[in-house]
Amino acid sequence: MTYTKDALAGRVALITGGGSGIGLGIAKALAAAGAKLLLASRNVERLDSALEELRCLGAEAARVKCDVRKYEEVEAAVKTAGEIYGSLDIVVANAAGNFVVPAAEMSPNAWKVVIDIDLNGTFFCARASYEALKASRFGGRFLAISTTRALEGWPGCAHAGAAKAGIMSLIRTLSAEWGRDGIRCNTIAPGAIGDTEGVRRIYEDQGRKALELGSIPLGKFGQTSDIANAAVFLCSDAGQYVTGADLVVDGGRNRSRASTGYVPEGLWKETA
Ligand code: NAP
Ligand code: COA
Repeated sequence: MTYTKDALAGRVALITGGGSGIGLGIAKALAAAGAKLLLASRNVERLDSALEELRCLGAEAARVKCDVRKYEEVEAAVKTAGEIYGSLDIVVANAAGNFVVPAAEMSPNAWKVVIDIDLNGTFFCARASYEALKASRFGGRFLAISTTRALEGWPGCAHAGAAKAGIMSLIRTLSAEWGRDGIRCNTIAPGAIGDTEGVRRIYEDQGRKALELGSIPLGKFGQTSDIANAAVFLCSDAGQYVTGADLVVDGGRNRSRASTGYVPEGLWKETA
């Protein structure tokens, strides 16, 4: 870890999808930097087991059941942070859904469900937390999760690609609108992060793990802690002049694709 234990002292962070994968990695890092946590997602058992892990690490953490597709539940989660901790300083809109299906076979509801979770859910989190973030004595921080695949085009994941591109645009707008309120809004664009549901669904289950690894200049999948460290930077005073940014943490994958015109072998067969 490269940050101090009090980089986020006194801050309260709400993390959607904080019970697993990248969200849990971010939760651990924010807590290690001194933040108090509220984890929000649909599956309470998953949240409880994350809380147990976090508390063993010395974190102060709570959970709230919340489906980010339901605005009233997102509003309630924001309210819960205020009730438990008295304030809300950081919101990490990390919750997402994704699966591989060619656009020509994607049902309208399959499209809708991913747009609802990823894009609408991120807007709901931002909208519902605005007043609380504006009131933060540290300056509010809103962090969303994107991916460079959004701008490359994402065969097999048209819904998630479009949703993440929408998130990137949303964050640029919010950074402009909310800067004067002291709220910094940024995205992190992870590459392929090993041992996550995202990598399992998009690469491993599709038999594309080796191909994906071959496109990464640093030669390995990232770790949730890599994304978590970027989150601490963006949420702490170390990132005090950074807003409207999309911080790419991908082992150079997007540069490699841009320079070689890389298209994974077998991709068209798999998604046609
Ligand atoms: P994950 O473990 O499946 O995380 C997704 C989380 O979102 C889960 O904790 C899930 O919890 C929650 N969630 C899903 N639908 C929800 C809903 N409707 N309301 C509230 N919570 C919901 O996957 P991950 O791979 O760590 O992905 C985390 C983030 O990183 C996502 O934004 C993803 O797009 C992004 N990302 C991941 C990678 C990667 O390599 N893994 C790469 C680029 C971007 P419940 O089931 O309890 O609701
Ligand atoms: N291929 C094609 N279509 C699929 C699919 C797949 N693998 N998985 C789901 N769908 C379709 C369903 O058939 C349904 O469409 P239909 O009504 O026309 O049949 C639609 O998507 C909604 O599916 P449903 O299972 O009802 O949605 P849900 O709200 O219960 O779950 C998901 C949402 C589908 C995104 C689910 O995978 C999820 O909860 N994911 C969270 C974890 C995750 O995706 N992690 C990776 C993050 S990058």
